Amino acid sequence: MPVADVVLDAPFKIATLGDIDEILPLAKSTVPGFVEHLWSRLAGEDETAEDFGRRAQIAFVNEGNTIVAHFDGRIGAMLISYPMAESPNPHVPGMDEMLRPLMTLFSKAKGTWYLHGIATDPDYFGRGLATRLMDIAEHLGRSAGKPKISLLVIDTNPTAIRFYEKRGYATTAREAVVGKGWQTAAKNWLLMEKALH
Ligand SMILES: CC(C)(COP(=O)(O)OP(=O)(O)OC[C@H]1O[C@@H](n2cnc3c(N)ncnc32)[C@H](O)[C@@H]1OP(=O)(O)O)[C@@H](O)C(=O)NCCC(=O)NCCS
Repeated sequence: MPVADVVLDAPFKIATLGDIDEILPLAKSTVPGFVEHLWSRLAGEDETAEDFGRRAQIAFVNEGNTIVAHFDGRIGAMLISYPMAESPNPHVPGMDEMLRPLMTLFSKAKGTWYLHGIATDPDYFGRGLATRLMDIAEHLGRSAGKPKISLLVIDTNPTAIRFYEKRGYATTAREAVVGKGWQTAAKNWLLMEKALH
């Protein structure tokens, strides 16, 4: 089922381009430091890191892959999810080195429903928004006939790891972080998966 066909109850709705300014900080918060560093490496010659990030988020919104929680014109949380390719290619020519471990894990998650990103604005933490967004992601995966849902999380994010474990996700693979100048205490990216029955 395409994300656009899912029936969403308030405050959740499919994101539109007018939401991008508020989606950007949420996207950065998923892996603090990493996202900005990667964007700066992937930006074109005449582009800032922020420009690149905006372009990437616009693409997700245009594909209909982003769901947001709206409160009086403010976004409280967001989710980006979509079907992982049936044969993700871990050896894309010219791929940035920082992405190598992620691509290796993607190839292990082929054919799953992939949760690319989930984040709540700190002002809305603890109100159950991420729990409800996970329900939506799992519903989308089931509706699309996927056997599993997958996500990547960095090992320095124990809040998120505990949150996923409580929902029945287990770590099925890990790959060493490639930092390329990103100052971090992180050692590994974890692939976490859950069966969708
Ligand atoms: C992880 C995250 C998405 C949870 O969002 P949330 O909307 O606050 O989550 P919920 O209100 O649905 O709560 C779910 C669980 O998160 C945990 N949690 C929520 N807020 C927390 C906080 N401030 N400190 C510690 N744990 C917290 C609790 O374990 C809670 O479980 P409970 O329902 O048994 O109490 C949020 O902390 C966040 O956006 N973090 C930054 C971005 C991020 O790390 N994204 C994941 C990247 S892989």
